Amino acid sequence: MRKKVSIVGAGNVGATTAHWIASKELADVVLVDIVEGIPQGKALDLLEAMPIEKRDVRVTGSNDYAETAHSDIVVITAGLPRKPGMSRDDLLHTNFKIMSDVVAKVTAQSPEAILIIVSNPLDAMAQTAFRQSGFNRERVIGMAGVLDSARFRTFIAEELNVSVENVTAFVLGGHGDTMVPLARYSTVAGIPITELIAPDRLEALIQRTRDGGAEIVKYLKSGSAYYAPSAAAVEMVEAILKDKKKILPCAVYLQGEYGIEGYYIGVPCKLGAAGLEQIVEIKLTAEEDAALKKSAVAVKELCAVIGV
Ligand code: NAI
Ligand code: 2OP
Repeated sequence: MRKKVSIVGAGNVGATTAHWIASKELADVVLVDIVEGIPQGKALDLLEAMPIEKRDVRVTGSNDYAETAHSDIVVITAGLPRKPGMSRDDLLHTNFKIMSDVVAKVTAQSPEAILIIVSNPLDAMAQTAFRQSGFNRERVIGMAGVLDSARFRTFIAEELNVSVENVTAFVLGGHGDTMVPLARYSTVAGIPITELIAPDRLEALIQRTRDGGAEIVKYLKSGSAYYAPSAAAVEMVEAILKDKKKILPCAVYLQGEYGIEGYYIGVPCKLGAAGLEQIVEIKLTAEEDAALKKSAVAVKELCAVIGV
């Protein structure tokens, strides 16, 4: 039997997530949205592309959560995106209400599912989903680090004129201005980028990574990035469905790891069939450790506002 992935929020990120999943033939897909017609129309359109793409997957759309029953994974993208001048944190109150409502409905239908949270502000929304679902932390995972790292990898590959396949990079911390790109653990064909890129250029690439979301919002004017975000969510979906044991930077609930207790923050994780299978603890310098802790304080402040 094919796996089933439901996606809540059939907007830009949700619909593009469905597109990547179907085009990779990873699972049957159910798109759900509060707006009538949108998930149905987008799902049917995508389904009709399958004969051309030679992919055997069912893609359906609905406003009814009953359709999502017994999902293996639910990706939650429901909520408002940023507009120019807005930070991710400006979305806090509205998206908190949406996330709480969605999680209650999703978990009633799929009590065994793994939740991948995408809505912003990401770390606080993952914490909301964790608290509201009552799931263990292995089954509620936030997507941000894969996206932020992909942006950093893109800029490194462009800078050095090398294949993106040669570049690995890690961005930890919260998904916001306090994110922590780890240059020391970022490599090109195994060579640390600190050996290949001058410090001032490297700092410029790091800052561009921190501003990566805002750079796209500025161009789009209404709405935010969705191709890279959805590809990032699907890399996590694939790692779980295929039990790949893949190490990816994900937002997870820390219980003392990295000296942080009781908050979602981006750290290196092993993803497999059980969801979060291991938090990988790497040694940080004093400066990196301070940056991660600062990022955790920012997440803590947001969580305090919404009481999660
Ligand atoms: P969008 O506006 O295109 O789509 C959001 C969809 O959610 C809309 O179709 C809307 O009708 C739906 N929705 C709203 N309330 C709902 C509810 N109660 N139940 C079901 N559906 C509901 O926005 P987009 O671009 O798809 O972004 C979605 C979210 O993902 C935003 O919060 C955005 O900031 C966030 N995001 C997070 C990223 C990350 O790295 N974690 C990257 C990109 C976006
Ligand atoms: C991004 O980084 C908006 O969080 C979203 O593109």
